[in-house]
Amino acid sequence: MSEKDNDIAAWQASIGDLPEHIAIIMDGNGRWANARGLPRTAGHKAGVEATRRAVRSTAELGVKYLTLFAFSSENWRRPEAEVRELMRLLRIYLRSETADLHKDDVRLRVIGDKAMLAADTRQLIDQAESLTAQNNGLQLTIALNYGGRDEIAFATQAMIKDYSEKGYVPDIEEVETRYKSFLMTKDMPDPDLLIRTSGERRISNFLLWQCAYSEFVFTDVLWPDFDKADLMYAIEEFSGRDRRYGNAVCHSRSNKS
Ligand code: FPP
Repeated sequence: MSEKDNDIAAWQASIGDLPEHIAIIMDGNGRWANARGLPRTAGHKAGVEATRRAVRSTAELGVKYLTLFAFSSENWRRPEAEVRELMRLLRIYLRSETADLHKDDVRLRVIGDKAMLAADTRQLIDQAESLTAQNNGLQLTIALNYGGRDEIAFATQAMIKDYSEKGYVPDIEEVETRYKSFLMTKDMPDPDLLIRTSGERRISNFLLWQCAYSEFVFTDVLWPDFDKADLMYAIEEFSGRDRRYGNAVCHSRSNKS
């Protein structure tokens, strides 16, 4: 074991239960650029570097699932040049990163309404998803043209179709139990920890169904400055929380109600 591996093992032992799934609202690129007298797009470029770091750090720390909010279904309302630049950066990320992610055993998936994305972007996503489909390391999900209410609407429509074919109306318990299987995140556990950077304290239409019992950690750090130490700090804060899932006493993850 290298010294670095030893350090991580000691840190993991101090944490106890690591979050299995971390979701991040990456916020503050524009303010980071503003503070330096740079255009917003420079903030997004630095944000991509922070994204690369976060993916690497999450895998190193032994967290299994990472879901990143890269572009919301509301972000189309931004100036056209900014939207174009965000999409260009995403394509650059996919082109430059897919081979390395694959080498590191990372599985990449994209959630969101892909129909509105440009054909070349969809093609890069498809290639990255199929190349990494069998990988068992970090399960990385990028939310792109994603909105939590949209997802719930899509899932509800799919469920209604399913029950129209089955020919009966399910009771509430059945709806709740089966609902997850209609969501874009059906193959992954719900986030244990949701981090939002830049001092904002909102969920902004991200993973609305899935975050019912997530712990939220808000940090003032702007996304381009977010680094491994900030990630470790957020996990440490999470580990000190008493997760009750609506019960009166502390329960482990398996005792959710
Ligand atoms: C919020 O900052 C950030 C975004 C809308 C985009 C997040 C995108 C990236 C980090 C880069 C692309 C991601 C990948 C996966 C390659 P903001 O512009 O709202 O900042 P502000 O609130 O300070 O204006």
